[in-house]
Amino acid sequence: MRILGISGSLRKGSYNTALLRAAVALMPEGAQLEAGSISGIPLYDGDVEASQGIPPAVQALKTSITQADGLLLVTPEYNNSIPGVFKNAIDWLSRPSADIPKVFGGRPVGVIGASPGGFGTILSQNAWLPVLRTLGTKTWFGGRLQVSRAGNVFNEAGELTDEAIRTQLRKYLAGFVGFIKEP
Ligand SMILES: Cc1cc2nc3c(=O)[nH]c(=O)nc-3n(C[C@H](O)[C@H](O)[C@H](O)COP(=O)(O)O)c2cc1C
Repeated sequence: MRILGISGSLRKGSYNTALLRAAVALMPEGAQLEAGSISGIPLYDGDVEASQGIPPAVQALKTSITQADGLLLVTPEYNNSIPGVFKNAIDWLSRPSADIPKVFGGRPVGVIGASPGGFGTILSQNAWLPVLRTLGTKTWFGGRLQVSRAGNVFNEAGELTDEAIRTQLRKYLAGFVGFIKEP
């Protein structure tokens, strides 16, 4: 089993990218999490799509999603919602719309996130729900992971050092893998 994880942050010191890296290492046996990236994805422009087609970075990520058994979105929260760069990436990935069933349709999706604030991306995670419904994904609701006070749970090297969060992340991943395996 192979899951593709995507962090919705571009910055090097991103807590969400650090959370994704931690998740890669905490996957249950027999399942792999590969870290994808939204880096290099341009701003969506319908004129560019019409004249040049799907940009290579988008096409590569589309292929990776299509080949994965599941998709894990690791989302930051901006202004109580989805960061524009992450939404922009998913918008590109949903083009052309005829490919939506192949890329997203029935695909198991999990959403987790980390924030230095006290609510751990709860509103951003909620804001993903109408998007995931529109794309026809099979979103997992059996577990939640909102990493709050992220400055206290990762060390300077971006390693997840908080044992309680490591346990929660391990449990989340095991649950998500179990969900994907369900007939
Ligand atoms: C424009 C902007 C808006 C933000 N709004 C929120 C917010 O609504 N809730 C929150 O918890 N954090 C908010 N933050 C703080 C982010 O959670 C913080 O910058 C976080 O480190 C971003 O994720 P990253 O570390 O993966 O890059 C905001 C940050 C920016 C730049």
